[in-house]
Amino acid sequence: MELAGKVVVVTGGASGIGAALCRRFAAEGAAGVAVADRDAAGCAAVAGDVGSVGVQSLAVEADVATEAAVAALVTQVTGELGPIDLFCANAGIGMSGGAEVPDSEWQRIWSVNVMAHVYAARAVIPSMAARGGGYLLTTASAAGLLTNLGSAPYTVTKHAAVALAEWLSITHAHQGIKVSCLCPQGVRTPLLLEGVAAGDPAGSSVLAAGAMLEPDDVARAVVEALAEERFLVLPHPEVATYMRHKAEDPDRWLRGMRRLWDTVRPAEWPGPSRC
Ligand SMILES: NC(=O)c1ccc[n+]([C@@H]2O[C@H](COP(=O)([O-])OP(=O)(O)OC[C@H]3O[C@@H](n4cnc5c(N)ncnc54)[C@H](O)[C@@H]3O)[C@@H](O)[C@H]2O)c1
Repeated sequence: MELAGKVVVVTGGASGIGAALCRRFAAEGAAGVAVADRDAAGCAAVAGDVGSVGVQSLAVEADVATEAAVAALVTQVTGELGPIDLFCANAGIGMSGGAEVPDSEWQRIWSVNVMAHVYAARAVIPSMAARGGGYLLTTASAAGLLTNLGSAPYTVTKHAAVALAEWLSITHAHQGIKVSCLCPQGVRTPLLLEGVAAGDPAGSSVLAAGAMLEPDDVARAVVEALAEERFLVLPHPEVATYMRHKAEDPDRWLRGMRRLWDTVRPAEWPGPSRC
């Protein structure tokens, strides 16, 4: 898919990777970019950047963990910018801890990192299919292919996001629906930096695993993958190697991950969970 002339929605568009995607899509000549986020001021700022290069923009305050908000977002964007060509389900949250994390927090991260993608698919696929096709971009994570040391809720929900993206790609291809799945490791955004500052092993383990990219690097990788209509977007190419190692010899891969965990594991684990 070429971005020129397309109507695009980016959730989590007020910050980090989402903001970089919005600006990059505008630079590629999108017809309209809707910036959706629960952070209204951040939405307005990014929509302003998009508008400043002559691209129609729309700032929409929305909590994508709520189905009604996602449905209303799609209705508003369609009414004001036109039918949606590309929906980027990018909003996401982190959380440290393991099985001891309370159910309410598991439910909260499940709602944002997984159900928001279900709600987006439900809201856009029928109209996209009726028009002959459309594109979904899922922001998952390398944690959805491998693991995120120090965070079971993040790892589990990102695996689910990858699984949903694969399933949609298979099931709706005959209707012209295309899907790409973005799986970065560390990216310099508040989500990662706040975790690192708080001493989260989930954050420090990401830094131990490889280089921290800039959000603009990720946006470039996304545009390249969309142009090729490639499913897996791996801004850190080494993730493909790790996936291969995991598939070839899971026990060896697990031994390596345990060694890495030993280097980042806090003396007191689990500590109080940071949600
Ligand atoms: N930064 C990394 O290292 C990294 C690595 C892999 C994947 N990711 C994923 O990238 C995506 C974007 O994260 P980021 O790193 O740019 O972080 P970020 O914190 O800069 O941006 C996330 C945005 O999502 C918004 N958001 C969160 N919950 C929301 C909700 N319920 N409704 C609407 N908006 C909501 C936040 O307000 C924020 O603006 C996430 O899905 C994250 O899991 C990040």
